[in-house]
Amino acid sequence: MKAALVTRYDAPPAYADVEEPRATGPHDVIVDVLAAGLHPRVLSQADGSHYTSTAELPLVPGIDGVGRDPEGRLRFFVLDDTTQGSMAERTVVDVRRSVVLPDDCDPVAVAAAMNPAMSSWIALRRRIAFHPGQSALVLGATGNAGRMAVQVLRLLGASSVVAAGRDEGRLTELASLGADVRVRLDAPDTRSALGAAAADVDVVVDYVWGEPTAAAMTAVVTDRVDRGRDLTWIEVGSVAGPVAAIPSAALRAARLSIVGSGQGSVSTPDIVAELPSLADVISEGRLTVDARPVPLREVGDVWTDARRTGHRIVVVPGA
Ligand SMILES: NC(=O)c1ccc[n+]([C@@H]2O[C@H](COP(=O)([O-])OP(=O)(O)OC[C@H]3O[C@@H](n4cnc5c(N)ncnc54)[C@H](OP(=O)(O)O)[C@@H]3O)[C@@H](O)[C@H]2O)c1
Repeated sequence: MKAALVTRYDAPPAYADVEEPRATGPHDVIVDVLAAGLHPRVLSQADGSHYTSTAELPLVPGIDGVGRDPEGRLRFFVLDDTTQGSMAERTVVDVRRSVVLPDDCDPVAVAAAMNPAMSSWIALRRRIAFHPGQSALVLGATGNAGRMAVQVLRLLGASSVVAAGRDEGRLTELASLGADVRVRLDAPDTRSALGAAAADVDVVVDYVWGEPTAAAMTAVVTDRVDRGRDLTWIEVGSVAGPVAAIPSAALRAARLSIVGSGQGSVSTPDIVAELPSLADVISEGRLTVDARPVPLREVGDVWTDARRTGHRIVVVPGA
């Protein structure tokens, strides 16, 4: 069968022939893959930089997707760490890590949206207990996950959402997706603008980390009116750098808790338990998804651009 194949970490995958996958466990089924998202997590899997990488090559990339099972049902699935990923005509799915989708849902939209939407959905429902009426700041709101976070916060009843990002066009679009206030992260007045807009939020959903996070944390804590009020900062992504110099004063001067949310800090059963409700929300069209389907044979051509494009590329084996 055909698949995307990574043979070295410093080059995009090739469109290649690989062996058919084999079901070995009692819960395994082979699915025909209809759509697989090219998420940042897939890029880091394929360049060996993700914290779960094992240096095992060659590998078929892809961590999740939508496929048709042997009974003809559509399933969204999340793969365990594997070298037999979803960017192939077929893959092996443990049905316990999958959810049956409505027949009429759009596989490309679901494949594009689940990973970025899960980042905030799970963080807010499983890593912390977000309550309707709480307010939030999304740092890095212009990426796919950040755009979803703004919408997820609204679905979960946020009283107000501040969106911070660099791309002005995508920041403007966030007004119609639920962001009350937009703040440029790369402007001369970012510090004062963040302080004015977000100093009193209850929760920060952070996709940025690195230097912008250290600066944002100082701004929020310094300008906070009631420093005794809980502030929960959830580290979800690190597009600006893996390390942030957190000022000690920020932790002492405010009731600030920093937590992370991802594979490991939320258990696999907890993640899987959230799949059906999130799949419902996406299938019902309650989240705006920005997807670009690309045939599997063109995977190598779009790989490098995937870090730069605003939309989520979705690899479609059948196209
Ligand atoms: N923990 C989890 O469960 C989980 C799940 C999904 C994703 N993630 C992580 O979340 C992050 C975002 O994922 P995504 O799907 O939204 O990626 P994406 O769609 O590629 O968006 C990334 C965005 O990051 C922004 N960015 C890049 N460098 C930046 C910098 N130096 N300062 C500020 N913003 C910067 C860019 O926005 P501008 O154009 O505005 O600069 C870009 O649009 C990634 O680190 C990903 O691995 C985590």
